Amino acid sequence: MGLRSIILSLLISKTVILSSISTFSSRRIQCPYGVKVMVEPTYEEMSERACEILMKKLKKIAGEKEEVVLVLPTGRTPIRLYELLIERYKDDPVWGKVILVQLDEYVGASPEDEESFQYFLKSRLLNKLRVKRFIGINGGAKNLEEEVIRYNELLKELGSIDILVLGIGRNGHIAFNEPGFSSQLNFDIVELTEETQKVNGVTYEKAFTITVPYLLKSKFIMLLASGESKQEIIERTLKGPISKDIPASLLRGHPDCIFILDEVAATKLITPIRP
Ligand code: GLP
Repeated sequence: MGLRSIILSLLISKTVILSSISTFSSRRIQCPYGVKVMVEPTYEEMSERACEILMKKLKKIAGEKEEVVLVLPTGRTPIRLYELLIERYKDDPVWGKVILVQLDEYVGASPEDEESFQYFLKSRLLNKLRVKRFIGINGGAKNLEEEVIRYNELLKELGSIDILVLGIGRNGHIAFNEPGFSSQLNFDIVELTEETQKVNGVTYEKAFTITVPYLLKSKFIMLLASGESKQEIIERTLKGPISKDIPASLLRGHPDCIFILDEVAATKLITPIRP
């Protein structure tokens, strides 16, 4: 068994938390800095961990306030998390305090369009849970500027997000904040890169997105990543420079952010140390 396999089996046997600027020499794993990183052996366990952390946070905040502003992502990564939320917590009264806010949407995808993110959220989650309120993006809006203004106002009224769950694009985008994109607004329209269109299997050229400054005001952020296709970007996000060229790296400046990864996605974070 090589050193790498030993390290991986250590990971398999136990959840490993890599925290700021620390080297857990007993586990022979190094982590650079910024956010907390939790590595779970499998996608299933990553989803379970995310589900439990999310519910714990939701209940805590719901114990303190009348409303909890929750923002959830779309994509393949959170699918199991959403199944678990339904399986385990469908009838939990906490949902009665949740304001669920849509994170992003393709420009041109109406809520009833199966490719739209709103359709995804509704069919996988919202139709099965009773949240207090849902705030959705109208991707099919005729007047794009009006939709941007409307959503900016809604976000302003909300103040900030209590719990933000994110996935990550292969180029480091979070929500639809593509590399290099910046905006003064809380919500804006962005040009999608060809890579994102290809990976997502769509031809939409633009998207609505909550922007990075508003996302960074969230009180708690949890980013999920799974699988081989995320290995490289997870490494660049956590080990490279903090830069808007890798939007996810900006999360490293946030005071309460955790990355929950499966072991495959975390492979490149594991730096073997010579015995
Ligand atoms: C899309 C979404 C992101 C999501 C990303 C990753 O581009 N805009 O919010 O995080 O895809 O998706 P997946 O989980 O399918 O890899």
